[in-house]
Amino acid sequence: MADRSDQLLKIKLFGKQFKNPVWVASGTFGYGEEYAELYDVSKLGAIVTKSITLEPRQGHPPPRVVETPSGMLNAIGLQNVGVDNFVKDKLPYLRKLKTRVIVNIAGSSINEYVKVTERLSRKRGIDALEVNISCPNVKTGGIEIGADPKRALKTIAMVKKASRFAVIAKLSPNVTDITVIARAVEDGGADAISLINTIAGMVIDVDKRRPALSNVTGGLSGPAIRPVAVAMVYKVARSVDIPVIGIGGIMNTDDALQFFLAGAKAIQVGTGNFINPRAPLEIIAGLKRYCKRNKFSNISKVAADLEG
Ligand SMILES: Cc1cc2nc3c(=O)[nH]c(=O)nc-3n(C[C@H](O)[C@H](O)[C@H](O)COP(=O)(O)O)c2cc1C
Repeated sequence: MADRSDQLLKIKLFGKQFKNPVWVASGTFGYGEEYAELYDVSKLGAIVTKSITLEPRQGHPPPRVVETPSGMLNAIGLQNVGVDNFVKDKLPYLRKLKTRVIVNIAGSSINEYVKVTERLSRKRGIDALEVNISCPNVKTGGIEIGADPKRALKTIAMVKKASRFAVIAKLSPNVTDITVIARAVEDGGADAISLINTIAGMVIDVDKRRPALSNVTGGLSGPAIRPVAVAMVYKVARSVDIPVIGIGGIMNTDDALQFFLAGAKAIQVGTGNFINPRAPLEIIAGLKRYCKRNKFSNISKVAADLEG
């Protein structure tokens, strides 16, 4: 049942209404079905799917995940069902949910991103594309594009041209100056920016004298990366005019609020889903309480002037 407090969290981004700004991050929520047994996933503001590529991918062999202090390191390697199977088997379910569906896409070349976009653009039930130009765990595509402003701009411009959906560029923290990449994707026509993807990391098993992950290095996520993510959201939100979506180590309402205060218009919960699957619902309730307590008529009013 909708009540008046639902107005507190309604937001409009790239011309679309979202019931709230609490979304779930790519790769941590499968294609939505996986969590539907645990709670009503229609309560989420949006579901961002696992990255989809042109062909199905098996990903890297195990071990693909290792725990780290206040976080985890993963090198899944973009395992996914491929765009055609996604459209056939996963999208019909997602489309029925009463939440926004954001399809995250990836590729080994700009051409692959464009082909995936073209296949999706003929379909109903998608509200936006999130373009993963930031995966640290694949040899080509991913970070290779996301660390080069010219290639990042070109990829976003080509996807935008092929897409009838809003395009969100998902940025990597593994760069010298993330604001340079943010401005490049804005110039390329991105409707919004999401950040951060995982931070490149490595764990070595000293007894085996081997890396803990089969891929040798992986991407660090969870609370360990949150201060890095907040700082990057803060900087990017002041460098571009398009909306910024904050990601990185969000486990609870206070974590999420840091991102809104830093200038994010929405947030995504990633690793937090593994620790507490109900975290996004608790954050939705917590944000409503915060707005009421501090007399904000809407979450969009929460951003603060943090200078000096
Ligand atoms: C197991 C795992 C798989 C992920 N897969 C993807 C992916 O397919 N595409 C993508 O853009 N990001 C992927 N990510 C990155 C998350 O969406 C998110 O940007 C990152 O984990 C930081 O947020 P967190 O600290 O809340 O997890 C993955 C993260 C994890 C932990």
